[in-house]
Amino acid sequence: MKINISKSLEDTNKLAKNVLANLGDKKLLLLQGDLGSGKTTFAKAVAQHLGVEDVVTSPTFTLMKVYKTKHKQFDRLVHVDLYRLDSVGVDELVELGLQEFIDDSKSLVLIEWSERLEKKIENSIQIIFDIKKDKEREIVVK
Ligand SMILES: Nc1ncnc2c1ncn2[C@@H]1O[C@H](COP(=O)(O)OP(=O)(O)OP(=O)(O)O)[C@@H](O)[C@H]1O
Ligand SMILES: [Mg+2]
Repeated sequence: MKINISKSLEDTNKLAKNVLANLGDKKLLLLQGDLGSGKTTFAKAVAQHLGVEDVVTSPTFTLMKVYKTKHKQFDRLVHVDLYRLDSVGVDELVELGLQEFIDDSKSLVLIEWSERLEKKIENSIQIIFDIKKDKEREIVVK
């Protein structure tokens, strides 16, 4: 577990780059934390580092967006936001079409509001955002 303090968008961007560089065999990022704590900001930084050219916006009203990347390992970035769902079980993951992306080695999956998952998905990296001050965020990576 690593506790990071971000004092700017630039810091959060660097942290995203660092997480990507240290994925190991993992390809699922579970983002947690309050409204406005920086999850989408982090997701946009991940997209930028993967070479996504489309504009990345919060998928709050669409649940899931799939972006093409220019990355050598990952063909796709799958950006999910579970805010509007109460609880998401294994059946819902399949229903949403998410399970196949989780199982696909060429897709990097990033889930905002992963608190909504009934069970933490195995082999994932948890990233927990906490608002400290106006521009300061504590970001714990486990
Ligand atoms: N150090 C920082 N890192 C990330 N975001 C920051 C930081 N300082 C200030 N901010 C601001 O905090 C806000 C974070 O919003 P963002 O949409 O990323 O949050 P979120 O966690 O995705 O919220 P939601 O749950 O509503 O989707 C942005 O307006 C961003 O500019
Ligand atoms: Mg968001």
